[in-house]
Amino acid sequence: MKSILVTGANGQLGKEIQNIASDINNFNFIFSDVNSLDITNEAELSLFFEKNSIDYIINCAAYTAVDKAESEKELCNKINSIAVKNLVSFAQEYNINFITISTDYVFDGTNHKPYTENDKTSPNSIYGASKLTGESEALKYEKTIIIRTSWLYSHYGANFIKTMLSLSETRNELNVIFDQIGTPTYAADLAEAIIEIIRYSENNEFAAGIYNYSNEGVTSWYDFAKTIFRITNTNCKVLPIETKDYPTPAARPHYSVLNKSKIKNTFNLFIPYWEDSLAECLKEHRKK
Ligand SMILES: NC(=O)c1ccc[n+]([C@@H]2O[C@H](COP(=O)([O-])OP(=O)(O)OC[C@H]3O[C@@H](n4cnc5c(N)ncnc54)[C@H](OP(=O)(O)O)[C@@H]3O)[C@@H](O)[C@H]2O)c1
Repeated sequence: MKSILVTGANGQLGKEIQNIASDINNFNFIFSDVNSLDITNEAELSLFFEKNSIDYIINCAAYTAVDKAESEKELCNKINSIAVKNLVSFAQEYNINFITISTDYVFDGTNHKPYTENDKTSPNSIYGASKLTGESEALKYEKTIIIRTSWLYSHYGANFIKTMLSLSETRNELNVIFDQIGTPTYAADLAEAIIEIIRYSENNEFAAGIYNYSNEGVTSWYDFAKTIFRITNTNCKVLPIETKDYPTPAARPHYSVLNKSKIKNTFNLFIPYWEDSLAECLKEHRKK
């Protein structure tokens, strides 16, 4: 049976992989997080890989506090760049297929059509730059798949949906940015896609390279908030504002829609429309 190590398994994506793991035959999953396997700690990693025979690494561990990163550059780089280099060196030593997650924030957002994997990167933030350096480190190993995703949410951890629903409990009106355009990604869909990629790799070559993944469609944070409230029948007015009226420490791309043709064609994936996945997530959320 093949073994899959999932790092950062208590984060949004890691939890969604944990959720579906019991339904997946033929794979043995090892879920770890910073307390059990700190990816910045080379000695810990060395001991882990000595003891465990691993076929795939899914690296979900990351520093994801985009604004805080502007004042915590060193820590952000340590987790998103240096630790990826560490993991890759072990992957290489033990001949392990390496899958790691990156972000739409590697782009500056000046495109007017969906970003392909070959478009020029130029991050606006410390976080985006740290993820891009992590990508370069990962790409030095020929058995690496990088999946760039955007606006990730789930019913775990902290994310936009939870923030909107929680704010709506105490406010009748919210100002939300309408001039940042992108596509949300339900972490459960991404988790399924990653498992599909591994299944594909078992029967075909490991198709190394960079791939984009988000849900289908396009929206703004303003429309995203409106849709959350519509689906949940939440009585909270949403007012559109410009990015300049909501200053944040980190700059975000104004446009970061991802073109998913490559991942769909290579792995024969179906990607759900963002509103359908949002409705699905909110259904799960209400059950909790
Ligand atoms: N969230 C988004 O909107 C978004 C958008 C685009 C791309 N992405 C990328 O998608 C991936 C998954 O994101 P996510 O939202 O699931 O992230 P997340 O919820 O922040 O989870 C990241 C996990 O990594 C853990 N971690 C941090 N430092 C670690 C270390 N040194 N060793 C091991 N684990 C460590 C975190 O633990 P602690 O919580 O204890 O620190 C957390 O459990 C990341 O690569 C992220 O950059 C996210």
